[in-house]
Amino acid sequence: MSSLPAPDLARVAEDLETLASYRDPDAPGWTRRVFSRFDRAGREWVAGRMEEAGLTVETDAAANLIGRLPGAGRPGAIVTGSHTDTVQGGGRYDGIVGVLGAIEAVRCLRQAGAELGHDLVVVDFLGEEPNDFGLSCVGSRAMAGALDEGHLALVGPDGRTLAEALEEAGGRPGALAGARWSTGLHCYLELHIEQGPVLEQARVPIGVVTGIVGIHRLLAHITGQPDHAGTTPMGKRRDALLGAAETALAIERLAVELLAVEAALAGERLAILRLGHARPAVGGVATTGRLEVRPGASNVVPAEADLWAEARSAEEKTLAEFERKLGEELGAIGARRHLGTSLSWISREPPVLVTDWVAGAIGQAARSQGIEPLSLPSGAGHDASYMARLGPMGMAFVPSRAGRSHCPEEWTDLEDIGRGVAVLAQAVIICDHREEAVPGEAAQRAT
Ligand code: HGY
Ligand code: MN
Ligand code: MN
Repeated sequence: MSSLPAPDLARVAEDLETLASYRDPDAPGWTRRVFSRFDRAGREWVAGRMEEAGLTVETDAAANLIGRLPGAGRPGAIVTGSHTDTVQGGGRYDGIVGVLGAIEAVRCLRQAGAELGHDLVVVDFLGEEPNDFGLSCVGSRAMAGALDEGHLALVGPDGRTLAEALEEAGGRPGALAGARWSTGLHCYLELHIEQGPVLEQARVPIGVVTGIVGIHRLLAHITGQPDHAGTTPMGKRRDALLGAAETALAIERLAVELLAVEAALAGERLAILRLGHARPAVGGVATTGRLEVRPGASNVVPAEADLWAEARSAEEKTLAEFERKLGEELGAIGARRHLGTSLSWISREPPVLVTDWVAGAIGQAARSQGIEPLSLPSGAGHDASYMARLGPMGMAFVPSRAGRSHCPEEWTDLEDIGRGVAVLAQAVIICDHREEAVPGEAAQRAT
């Protein structure tokens, strides 16, 4: 195995700090939401860092930032990367470690004079986090050919469509077909923070991901009647907010019930997980994360409420059951409270299993660094879910302090990031040496 220089931790720290400085000063934490000028400026800076590292940089029609290091012409690229947008009030590591870490891995490979057979491509995917249009993974979705006209027509709170926002972000919504990755994928590798407590508790610095949960996201629109809050008797109200509140509680209850169903399978699943078999073992969570109420005055009975929520599971059939039951619940709430209700499913990301040989390469790379990695599933969504539609996929995790993520306190020790970068660089070499992928060989749907 080629010996590579250790990642330069001071350089990685400086990159992390500089990118963190591109933040919305009026928002909490380290906010850099997609389609904001802060995200755009941050990604321009990332493009510069890619170029300095020796990559040839371009953006595709979905505004993905793509840096390429040419190889010796073997078919299909090795693609690695993640995202640099954050949630509102987010941290400095989610996604960012996978982009800046990939750039550092390129520096290590070039410094070592490594000659790769395949092109190595680093991608900063546009907008992985859910945006104002309710959609996540905009860039990777487009690269997988799964961003459709319905998505582009989604309307945000300021009346703009996703197509308009994408255009402002430097994309070309009319030419999205061209963003589909069509030049072959040898494999996709993503380095990411765990965003949970497993690695820290196990005191293991590298995780090899077994699979990624499925995520179904919804918008429930509830309509009632605006009335005077002082003169309308309690029994005569059609309060949209109370309908939404009941819906949020139903969402919580359904998640708990479905978790109980999944727990029935837990014996089997835990045994599989212990064996390190590539099967995710997470599921049965649901969250209402956003609620908008109109007209929004304390002395007016709420007339309209929009509720955004999501359910996650490793089992597609659990998600289908969640959808069915929530539809029934919402209908019943509407009937009981004399409210209008409509439910739209904004996105359905199926659970995905990683490709065995890519996970094996990541494990081998970790062992080459003297680390016995831990296999674990991902309860967070990733660009990797979409890239898995194009070819073999695998992910490496580094620990998150106290398992915290999507908050300003999100933290990963620099030494752990350095280990992750070293494993990523080594995994690139191992994957590069592997014989060409069998046609059609891709990560599988989990169910
Ligand atoms: O929401 C998620 O799972 C992710 O962090 N994008
Ligand atoms: Mn995230
Ligand atoms: Mn992420």
